[in-house]
Amino acid sequence: MKKASSPQSLLKHAVKALKNAYAPYSKYKVGAAVLTADGVVYAGCNIENSSHGLTLCAERVALAKAVADGHRKFSAIAIAAGTRTPASPCGACLQVLSEFCPTTFPVYCTTTEGTVTREFTLHDFLPHSFKLKKTGEDED
Ligand code: THU
Repeated sequence: MKKASSPQSLLKHAVKALKNAYAPYSKYKVGAAVLTADGVVYAGCNIENSSHGLTLCAERVALAKAVADGHRKFSAIAIAAGTRTPASPCGACLQVLSEFCPTTFPVYCTTTEGTVTREFTLHDFLPHSFKLKKTGEDED
């Protein structure tokens, strides 16, 4: 079980996950690592497809792994992109993060080398996310 105790260590997990990115079409590699409320790290990378619309973003892969393992509460996400300046999560990933994470949720963005790092909150990117009222067992 991977653990992270600081933003720096979460960012390192994201940079490591980027190495597994499958991006033969865009050549744009992304790694992401989410930290669960109980301190476990789940990492993901982008996984492209010949049918481009089926491409999975790194952030959603990381979050899906964690949710599929039973986690519902998260403390932070780190995103690493193979670019000179840190990249922002896309709108689709922000909407999916907003399903499980509060507006104060920290979003750390960095580059492959981990040299330039920026910190935001989910609210900075998506102040008014789409929400449906929950029904049934997952209602809170
Ligand atoms: N990508 C991500 O992994 N996360 C984002 O938030 C934005 C885009 C990936 C998808 C695709 O493989 C590549 O970056 C170029 O769009």
